[in-house]
Amino acid sequence: MLMIVLRFAHVFFGALWVGMMVMGTFFVGPAVEEVGPDGGKFMAALQRRRIMTIMPLFALITLVSGMWLFGRLAGGNMSALLATPMGLAFALGGAAALIAFVIGIAVMRPAMIRAQQLAQSGAPGTGPEIQRLRARGNLLGRLVGVLLLFALAGMAVARYL
Ligand code: HEM
Repeated sequence: MLMIVLRFAHVFFGALWVGMMVMGTFFVGPAVEEVGPDGGKFMAALQRRRIMTIMPLFALITLVSGMWLFGRLAGGNMSALLATPMGLAFALGGAAALIAFVIGIAVMRPAMIRAQQLAQSGAPGTGPEIQRLRARGNLLGRLVGVLLLFALAGMAVARYL
């Protein structure tokens, strides 16, 4: 039963995390950047739906359940699991997801939130700073997106390597 709960949580929230991130990074972000100052209204509406809280929560569930599953798969012998192509693929994919999470939380999220706060303050002369923060957030977002796609690819094929 625990295995079913763990796998459900892992695959379900992992799919949502990657899907939301890829959508946001490769489609929504560049579109908002292209629109310019008006994009701020859209970002504010998105933020009111707590996207910056929901996504890290999905990510955390995926990471914790993934590490738990990895521990159970290893059954106390981590080096033996890592010596198999399957174990290595789960580990490398997992590491990519972990790095993506750290970049997302430590660098990307603060830049996006700061840009939002500046846009809402309506203070004059903050336009270039907002654009700079958004461009930075989008660039980091692309890196996070690529890392998550790598993790997804590893997870997808690991069992058959
Ligand atoms: C982007 C984030 C992630 C996504 C989308 C994801 C997705 C998946 C999917 C779809 C599976 C099912 C594969 C199969 O049964 O053939 C899986 C299994 C697994 N994942 Fe992840 N995963 C992610 C992150 C992680 C992390 C951070 C770890 C930690 C090491 C991890 C460890 C595992 C393990 C060990 C399994 C096998 C579970 C079992 O024994 O049935 N995953 N993952």
